[in-house]
Amino acid sequence: MKVTVVGAGNVGATCAQIVAEKNIVKEVVLLDIKEGLSEGKSLDLWQTAPINYYDTRLVGATNDYAKSANSDVVVITSGVPRKPGMSRDDLISINAGIVKSVTENVIKHSPDAIIIVVSNPLDVMTYVAYAVAKTTKNKVMGMAGILDTARYRAFLADALDISPRDIQALLMGGHGDSMVPLPRYTTVAGIPVTEMLDKETLDKIIDRTKKGGGELVNLMGTSAWYAPGSAAAQMVEAIVMDQKRIFPCCVKMEGEFGLNDVFVGVPVKLGKNGVEKIIEVKLTDDEQALLVQSAASVKEIMDVVDGMNIL
Ligand code: LAC
Repeated sequence: MKVTVVGAGNVGATCAQIVAEKNIVKEVVLLDIKEGLSEGKSLDLWQTAPINYYDTRLVGATNDYAKSANSDVVVITSGVPRKPGMSRDDLISINAGIVKSVTENVIKHSPDAIIIVVSNPLDVMTYVAYAVAKTTKNKVMGMAGILDTARYRAFLADALDISPRDIQALLMGGHGDSMVPLPRYTTVAGIPVTEMLDKETLDKIIDRTKKGGGELVNLMGTSAWYAPGSAAAQMVEAIVMDQKRIFPCCVKMEGEFGLNDVFVGVPVKLGKNGVEKIIEVKLTDDEQALLVQSAASVKEIMDVVDGMNIL
């Protein structure tokens, strides 16, 4: 199996590192437009192989997509990150063009690849990649839900003083302030979280989760990378190992949850065919209304991209 990560910035390099350390693919190709960056980072990573015990080969290439040929999975992290005060949507004018040209190059050399988009604004960049790749909808997805649920689970673990591993959670909608965490579908080793935490604490955690990316941008002056890179690597693993895992991922809606032609996070089954199933969990009227609202805010930015006439 061969995986390509486009963008050797913090998120891309972290994703490449974690995929390599999992020792689940033969080769990870790291691409970037900055001369020498991906060659340097992949060489540095390769030199961790004798220490961290893995066999995955790492190859770096400056803008040479021929090196990515016949990849099974391609992770797209290219684009500019947020600075303090910016929303993810503020990145649209720059990142739409970048994701478009990256996807064209990717698909030219790996027409059958499964594409995982990580660039922001996430849901709309997934739409751009899907529109450009002209492949089937099971093969293009965005990474956000795993990251957002990881933040939610980490905050819950702190509040409950328990292992984050024992927290299962579901979060839907767009990767922005309108995301929809679902406490009704959050459990602690099978116990509904609502039995373990009072509403006020839970509401505070939900609010912090929604702003979780912004909290890190404010602390670091740029957006996060360890959790985003790990989340993308977990999706790669589910696909290349055909694990059939259930994760919230950003995919194209075609009638599911009453939504059409919009890209939002919903629970899916991930395996060797990419998105193998969308799981239509039952939502209450209130939850459905929040999801519809979130989808509408994604659609607004999709319309902005349509207005750019680049697709
Ligand atoms: C975040 C960015 C990667 O949420 O969207 O940290």
